[in-house]
Amino acid sequence: MKQTNQLGQRESWGSRVGFIFAATGSAVGLGNIWKFSYSVGNNGGGAFVMLYLIFAALIGFTLMLAEFAIGRRNQLATVGAIKVYDKRFSFAGFLGVIVCFLIMCFYPVVGGWAISYIPRTLGGFLSTNPEGFGLIFSDFISNPVTPLIYVGIFFAINITIGLKGIKGGIEKASTILMPVLFIILIIIAIKGLTLPGATAGLVYLFKPDFSKINGGTMLAAMGQAFFSLGIGMGTMTTYGSYINKKENLASSAAYVVGLDTLVAVLAGVALFPALFAFGLEPDAGPGLVFAAMPIVFAEMGSIGTILALLFFISLPVAAITTTLSLQEVVVAYLMDEKEMERKKATWITAIANFILCVFASLSMAGIGPKLFGVGIFDVFDLFTDRILISGACMFIAIFAAWKMGKKDLEDEITNGGQKPFGMINLWFFLLKYVLPLVILVVTISGIISGFADGYGPVMITGIIIMLATIPLSKKF
Ligand code: PHE
Repeated sequence: MKQTNQLGQRESWGSRVGFIFAATGSAVGLGNIWKFSYSVGNNGGGAFVMLYLIFAALIGFTLMLAEFAIGRRNQLATVGAIKVYDKRFSFAGFLGVIVCFLIMCFYPVVGGWAISYIPRTLGGFLSTNPEGFGLIFSDFISNPVTPLIYVGIFFAINITIGLKGIKGGIEKASTILMPVLFIILIIIAIKGLTLPGATAGLVYLFKPDFSKINGGTMLAAMGQAFFSLGIGMGTMTTYGSYINKKENLASSAAYVVGLDTLVAVLAGVALFPALFAFGLEPDAGPGLVFAAMPIVFAEMGSIGTILALLFFISLPVAAITTTLSLQEVVVAYLMDEKEMERKKATWITAIANFILCVFASLSMAGIGPKLFGVGIFDVFDLFTDRILISGACMFIAIFAAWKMGKKDLEDEITNGGQKPFGMINLWFFLLKYVLPLVILVVTISGIISGFADGYGPVMITGIIIMLATIPLSKKF
């Protein structure tokens, strides 16, 4: 049932700008800065960036617009919105709720790592031995206790804002935090670009080496586009359910995709020229922003400390506007489908996520339960990254195009014909035929790569979870 207030109205965004900031805040996260930068480094630079941009524009925009339309059509969050059309498909929405929940079981741990770099920078760690920065990072994440304190701080912020609801919480926080993030990244990028030797980094980032393009880079770029834009998991459907009926959905989706991509590129410009200027390797993996970037800041002298502080503020800022949306998918589901109040739904969701994050964090120290020998952090990451995210994207595309259908989608996107969308035919063609097939290939390849990396039993468990959403969605 639709959650409404005493006047029978659903919560909604206060303004178009506020909504765009909130949706951009959801999309822009650690995926744009932490994951994007090390994925660029691991996949050979410019070729990956080029593929990423193409996929973001074609696949990302197409699916995001579909999600906004699904959510706003009946002003219901992801499960309810789908159920109205066909109960048999409600598993597609339910899968999104599960994926958001699972991402919330490890993403805040990385958010906590990021927060920890604020006091560390203030404590003057940059003036210690740069050779040891990698060690500081690995010692910290493998310490059983300290990271938990920062996970706790991360959740405290998330709950406080989440409890305030859509307009007074999520929208307000995003409207303040998003501009802060942009400004910080621009400042760091300008500094990086003015360093001698910085052009090598720009060449690395923007000059595609076509010999680097293969099946693996294409899949990595597409997976990065799904994750970084945060599509298919119901966040955009849920946020869409709070948009008023007058807004232009197509231009909103274009803004969000454009801004999300801009932040990823900006993060690349903030990082790579500086890394190259100081002769550092771009392929340091997940430790790139935590272990390699401090070396860059340390080399810059006193201004480096200020820039490092800004940079390590920007990471949790990006993370929190994202986790607010992930939490909101589960909360809105409980509110719409289980008729729970926001307060109760928020606490239940956050406590469950926090407990699982504790296990994920402890697994970094080699403590706690494992699944088939794999630590909990990696299990959640593998489930979502290799199977469930692309699986959810595929089912949402199929539902929208084949069940909801062109007539309703067009009516919703054009506001009943008042705001024509010139590319509707091309858009619908992509959604109906191209996306399901392409995403199917990504999903199968993700599963195969999981097996190839030796995670067979974890992959099988992930597939079982995906299939289990079909009967479970009927029960819950
Ligand atoms: N897009 C977010 C990021 O880049 C992650 C995310 C995934 C958000 C799934 C919503 C849904 O960090």
